[in-house]
Order: sequence, then C-alpha cells, then structure tokens
Amino acid sequence: MNVFRIKSVEQSMHDTEEPEHQLKKELSAWDLTFFGVGVIIGTGIFVLTGQEANLNAGPAIVISFVLAGVTCGLAALCYAEFASTVPVAGSAYTFSYATLGELVAWIIGWDLVLELALGAAVVARGWSAYFHDLFGLPSWLAGDDARPDIAAILIVLGLTAVAILGTKLSGRFTGVLVVIKVAVCLFVVAAGLFFIKAANYSPFLPPSKPSASDAAASDQPLIQAVFGMTPSHFGAFGVIAAASVVFFAYIGFDIVATAAEETRNPKRDVPRGIIGSLAICTLLYMAVSFVVTGMLRYSDPRMSTSAPLSEAFQANGVTWASKVISLGAVCGLTTVILVLLLGQSRVLFAMCRDGLLPQKLATVHPRFGTPHVITLLTGCFVAVLAGIVPLAELSKLVSIGTLFAFVLVSAGVIILRRTRPDLHRAFRVPAVPWVPILSILACIWLMLNLSLATWARFLIWLAIGFAIYFTYGARHSRVGRAGPADVSDRRVPERLDD
Ligand code: ALA
Repeated sequence: MNVFRIKSVEQSMHDTEEPEHQLKKELSAWDLTFFGVGVIIGTGIFVLTGQEANLNAGPAIVISFVLAGVTCGLAALCYAEFASTVPVAGSAYTFSYATLGELVAWIIGWDLVLELALGAAVVARGWSAYFHDLFGLPSWLAGDDARPDIAAILIVLGLTAVAILGTKLSGRFTGVLVVIKVAVCLFVVAAGLFFIKAANYSPFLPPSKPSASDAAASDQPLIQAVFGMTPSHFGAFGVIAAASVVFFAYIGFDIVATAAEETRNPKRDVPRGIIGSLAICTLLYMAVSFVVTGMLRYSDPRMSTSAPLSEAFQANGVTWASKVISLGAVCGLTTVILVLLLGQSRVLFAMCRDGLLPQKLATVHPRFGTPHVITLLTGCFVAVLAGIVPLAELSKLVSIGTLFAFVLVSAGVIILRRTRPDLHRAFRVPAVPWVPILSILACIWLMLNLSLATWARFLIWLAIGFAIYFTYGARHSRVGRAGPADVSDRRVPERLDD
C-alpha cells in the first residue's frame, strides 16, 4: 500500500464534474471577500487584543498584530497560488493530495477539523456570552460548569440550516452582518481616537519580567522550555508570544479557498478574495489595537476581561458604547461560525468524495446544490462540542492546527512548481522558493511560541488521525482503488488552462 500516492490535479478537477458531486458555482470575488472578512473578524479582535496587551505585549500589541498579519500574508500568497491552480473544494487538503501524497493530505484534512469545527465551537461559546451580555438570557439558556450552553447549541444548529439552504444565501446573510461588524470596528477607531492619552503608550514595549512562580510549567511556550529560558512576560519575546495568540484573529482567510469550487471564476476571484479580505482585516486590527491601548492603560485589569473594547469605552465614561460593541461582536461572531461551518463541510465533502471518509456522505442536495448530509453532520458535531465540552483550554489548538496547515500549503507550492511546472497558474507567488520558505519559517516560529500543553494535545490529535487513516481511509481511498496507473501519471497532454 503506497500511502504517498498522489491524486493528480487533473483527477481532482475531473471529480468536480461528476453530476452527483457537483456544487453550484455562484460566488463572485465580492462574495468571497465578504466571506473572508466575515470569518476573520471575531473573537480575536473583540477579546484577545486586551488580554494579550495586558499579559504579554503592552501597547506593542500592535506590533504583534503586524507580525501575525505578515505571517498570514506570506501564507495567503501560497494559498492564492494553489487556489488559482486547483480550484477544488477542500483547500489545504486538496492541495496536499496533489503534492505531498495521500497520508499527508489525510493528516491535513484531519488537522483542519481543529481549525474549522473546533474553531466554530469556541466562537459559538463566545457568541453565547456576548448575546447574554446584550439581551440577558434566561439562566437555562446560558450554560455554566454544570449545564450545557443551549444558546451556543441553538446558534450552531440555526446556522447549519442556513448553510444547507444555499451558499449564495449564506453569502447574502454574511454580507449584511459583515457590514455591521466592520462599522462597529470603525466606530471603535473613530470614537476612540478622542480618548487616547499619550501617557498610555509609555512604555510602548514594557520590559521583560519573569512569570509568576505559580504559573503551570505546561503553559510555558515550547521554545522557552526547549532552550531552558526563564518563563517571562513582556519584552521582545512577549510580543512574539502575543503574536502567536492573536494569530487566532486572522484565522479564516484560508477558508476562502474552500469555496473555490463554488466560485464562478475561481482562478481570478479566489486570490482576490483571500488577499483582499486579509488586507482589510490587518489594517482594521492595527487601528483597533492602537486605539484601545491608547484609551486604557495596558496594565489596567479591565484589559484582561472578556470584553476589553467595551471596558475601554466605559473607563472613559462612554457607557452606551459598550452596547454598540456587543452588537458588533454578536453580528461578528455569527458570521465567523457560519463560514467556519461552511469551510468544514467543504473539506469533509472533499475527503468523503475521495473515499477517505464514507463516500455516501458526499451527496449534493438536488435543489440547494450544497453538500447537505455532511453539513448536517458537521453542524451536529459542532453543536455538541460548543454545548457541552469545556473549551477554554482547547482554543489554542485551533491556532496550532491552522499554522500546521499553512506550513504544508507553503511547502506544497514549492513542490508543485517542481513537479508540475506545466500547470497554468493564474496567480503566482513572487520569488519562489523564498517567499514560501519564509512563510514556513514564520509559521513554525509562531507554533514554537505556543504552550507545551497545546503541543501535547496537538500530537495526540494527530496520533488519533493516523490510527483512523490506517484502519479506514487507506483501504477505501478512491485513488488507491483506481490503481497506480491512474494516479502516477503526473504529466498532462495539454495545459490545464481556462
Ligand atoms: N479569526 C476568527 C476570530 O477571531 C476565528 O474569531
């Protein structure tokens, strides 16, 4: 059994034409940009900004956002090249299948569950908290340690229904909410400017100080543990540690690539959607984090609450603004959950279509044109996670899983340039192999700054993935069953052009 068998780009494209597996092509560059912004702006900017400024970076949190944004920008270029070459649902999973082989593709598909399903569950929990803040929920709806979070379950199931009813419908729904949340971020920047105090920026980069002696060893970044460094906060390393946490705020631009198969002109529009949405969000994040740390001193304990943006306004006597921000957060988090659900179902759809998961699940609804079975299963799984699993500790798994996918996609660009120079690439990463290599190094660097506990959980998750692949996927793989003759032929007689 050759677990490194490749699914050729041609085969991936061919599978998208099968009538029973055909998704409706109805998205434009605008829809994709809205999806991108819809999924990117969420918990990260509404919650993590204040927490990381308070814990690790001080006002230099704006630099953490730049570092994370640059890392994502490098990876975004790689995603854009792949998506413009292989516009097939499945994103990193499909790209890896075409370059690094089936086992790596499976592992990346499995790994994406961390980014997409776990990410959706984490954000749904945050949604429920903000919703409660805004409208006040009856106690049986809001979960606690002993009770399930019914509100989180209901929002996931409601959004699953929207995802099943149509991708275009999901796009319109996302569009309206995205406008509200971007408006709220702009409001924070414009209104907040009036309350900035220059003294709050001093020191801009607070000097490094040792962590509290009671901090758990497993919370230490891997890199500090490996090099035997004294656990610390702030200073240059603090800014990098904060970058690896606020990276969460950027997660999602890559999900635009999962919608490639449903885009009318994917080779042109997917790169535009990926790069456009990331650029908009990077600018917004820098502006918001700069303003908020100017409004409220980084060391103020109110910075580390779950609603630092509201707190910054309350601290300046603008109490009504906190309701506006909560409304932005509720709208913002709703679209994050929806697009994560859409992305997860597309990746699983591609994996089922390839036989690595039960093929029967990859059916498309005859009227809605969406993969309804797998979307429903995904929704139920995420609802259970969001409702009853204690997630606080698991949220960093979302970041490590995503960074790992970025590493493989960046490596895949270099490999595909060598193995298939003949393919038409509507978008090309500049300065290959240097840009993908930089992307790989930057992602690994951020991964090394995540905690030992996160690494341990991540490795356990991958081990479970290996076990499932060898007991199910390897035997049922469509590429495996087709035999080597069909799959080893990497040459094509003509260019895969538009
Ligand atoms: N980027 C998304 C957020 O910040 C996942 O919620």
